[in-house]
Amino acid sequence: MYLELFLISLSVLIGIYFFNRYKSQLKQLFNIKKEMGDVKEKYVNSVAAVDNLINMLIELHNFGLKYSPSHNKQTLSKMIVDYAVKVLKTSIGSLMLIDETTNELVIVAARGLAKDVMDTTRLKIGEGIAGLVARDGNPIFVENIETDPRFFKAENVKYPSKSFISVPLKIRNKVIGVLNVNREKEGEKFVERDLRLLQLLAGQAAITIENIELYQNLQRLYLETMQTLAKAIDAKDAYTREHADRAGYYAKLVAEELHLPKTMVKHIEYAAMMHDVGKIGIKEEILLKASKLTNAERDEIRKHPLIGEKIIAPIEFLAPIAPLILYHHEWFDGTGYGEGLLGEEIPIGARIVAVIDSYDAMTSDRPYRKALSDEIAIDELKRGSGTQFDPKIVNAFLKVLENEKNKNGEKKTDKNQDSAASKSD
Ligand SMILES: [Fe+2]
Repeated sequence: MYLELFLISLSVLIGIYFFNRYKSQLKQLFNIKKEMGDVKEKYVNSVAAVDNLINMLIELHNFGLKYSPSHNKQTLSKMIVDYAVKVLKTSIGSLMLIDETTNELVIVAARGLAKDVMDTTRLKIGEGIAGLVARDGNPIFVENIETDPRFFKAENVKYPSKSFISVPLKIRNKVIGVLNVNREKEGEKFVERDLRLLQLLAGQAAITIENIELYQNLQRLYLETMQTLAKAIDAKDAYTREHADRAGYYAKLVAEELHLPKTMVKHIEYAAMMHDVGKIGIKEEILLKASKLTNAERDEIRKHPLIGEKIIAPIEFLAPIAPLILYHHEWFDGTGYGEGLLGEEIPIGARIVAVIDSYDAMTSDRPYRKALSDEIAIDELKRGSGTQFDPKIVNAFLKVLENEKNKNGEKKTDKNQDSAASKSD
């Protein structure tokens, strides 16, 4: 019993001795363990942030390669700011692009900023942090905005943030904009690693913006080429000059009158402008023949919707209008030419083009007759309603004509009271 007590006391004394002897080392060991835990946590956070960023970069890259009406610069800008605030775990961020006409930085997308700041902020190149970044093409990392003399003072009020990173968006060394992120006053400060992550994001963002711009320019080029082609066909025929422009103008109004979706309105406008583009493949002597066409010549001219469809369909962004061109000579009662489609089997855009094409043909001078009056042309449309034309479209077109008449006043006078037998080619 005494021996046991003695041994316990000895163990305690030895323990106390060793604790005092190695106290500082034990403390160090404890600190090292804690630091290792912190490092591990930081490492896990870093890996997660990099992983997140890689996914975002891939998504941005893919965004620039696809085409759809929603793939525009505005959507992309929002996406870039969303990614920036997400990867840097903050709530304030903005993307500014240089407005080439004024050479100022304009906020195109933002998170955590008041609407009036977004709408009214325009920075001259060289003004404020973002302006300096745009001017010099180098990122600026500010740990504490309040004590940094470089920061544009007036902005302190608008941006209640302490830590700030601003990186340039560059395309082949040319700055096109600036990506900014801020941290709330009381929040954690940004660190160098955040700057590197944001630079990676800004690099891909600039490439994607350039891809979208290139794609849009390509679209414009294709569209202009097709419209020039359509006008060139019109120009060959003195009687139908400006037909393409007028057809596009009215088709847009009719599509809007029918409350069709915006994208569809655009497609219908383009289809109306280019509906006869296939006539490029028809011999001129048939196209411009003043006398009656033979059956063979009529068969030849009836190929133009199919030729037009073949010209337009391979152009990706114009592909939706190809069927409208293919079916613009179908009749509502199924007796038109093409595939003999019936009623609503015919795309609505093709039904609209059919009405407008006929009206424009009737009210224009032709090689074989003078232009008909508006009244006669309208009577003809009404007569063809339900057979050649969709009644719903005829009604919408008549409303459009009425609105236009009220807008412009009476313009046309009766030119000729000839037969309305031939409405369009
Ligand atoms: Fe046609």
